[in-house]
Amino acid sequence: MTTAVGPAPGVSAGSRDVLTLADLGPQGFRALLDLATRLKGDRGPFRGTLAGGRVGMIFDKPSTRTRVSFEAAAWLLGALPIVLRPDELQLGRGETIADTARALSLYLDALTVRTFAQTTVEELAEAASIPVVNALTNEHHPCQALADVLTLEEEFGSLKGLRVAFIGDGDNVCHSLIQAAGLAGIELRVATPRGYEPMEEIIWPAEVLSRVTGGSITVTHDPLRAVHGADAVYADTWTSMGHEGEQVARQKAFRGFRVDEKLMARAAPSAIFLHCLPAHRGEEVTDEVMDGPASRVWPQAANRLPTEAALLYSVVTGDVDGVLL
Ligand code: CP
Ligand code: NVA
Repeated sequence: MTTAVGPAPGVSAGSRDVLTLADLGPQGFRALLDLATRLKGDRGPFRGTLAGGRVGMIFDKPSTRTRVSFEAAAWLLGALPIVLRPDELQLGRGETIADTARALSLYLDALTVRTFAQTTVEELAEAASIPVVNALTNEHHPCQALADVLTLEEEFGSLKGLRVAFIGDGDNVCHSLIQAAGLAGIELRVATPRGYEPMEEIIWPAEVLSRVTGGSITVTHDPLRAVHGADAVYADTWTSMGHEGEQVARQKAFRGFRVDEKLMARAAPSAIFLHCLPAHRGEEVTDEVMDGPASRVWPQAANRLPTEAALLYSVVTGDVDGVLL
């Protein structure tokens, strides 16, 4: 690995790609949450730990939170963030994904990628000699789920047995939340319209894991059933990036899946509301819920920065447990 920072002696030098949340495993997942919590308590020990390092950030789709929090996180650690838009790369002119990964590995210590197909991040990771982090694909959003569970843990003290209802589209954000539920022992109830369910191949390994961690994953088409007695209610957009052409059909299909005060009233009295953002107010969530007392969407968005800083620190140095800090 041609890195400026690299793993310290005695620290893991194995594959440190994070293409899905499942790549972390229960221990890596727990360690990362602990690192993020440490960083929130005191940024001091983390400052400059990647001094001289470089982090590439490919964004094939728009981003507000992920881009700015990753750039800010790299800066906090002392690394140079290099954001790459599709029209700035030779990839768009026919250079292969593998050759792009090989070239970028010569200059960078890590690469974060927001793109369409999961296979693109897999191909990049396969050819790269540096860690590759999924910053959102059509199928997964692991960085979001890290901030989500940190927010839940801060709110409730523990993740085990927490009842979380996800209302909406069973795609990237939902998939990563399913994997988080398996890793953390969360009781996750997913409610989607018919035809928008999460992928079985993502559900079943998380279900198997949840038998060990104490959680569960259920999928229903009834938002009321999912929300009943829940500790947290989670919403995402009805029309994800890349699906804009389906907007009209989706608005029809998702009618009845809006999180409003009436739906929130079916959750536990102390239930909180989460949303990965950006929110489409008046569609998947009402203003009253977004801006109401149950909303934790801003602490949740704020948690993107410490989780991403912890992630960058750990994938570049290999110091997952923070023993070098
Ligand atoms: N939640 C999230 O990933 O937001 P951005 O699309 O703004 O990065
Ligand atoms: N599901 C949404 C998440 C945005 C952060 C999308 O992919 O557009």
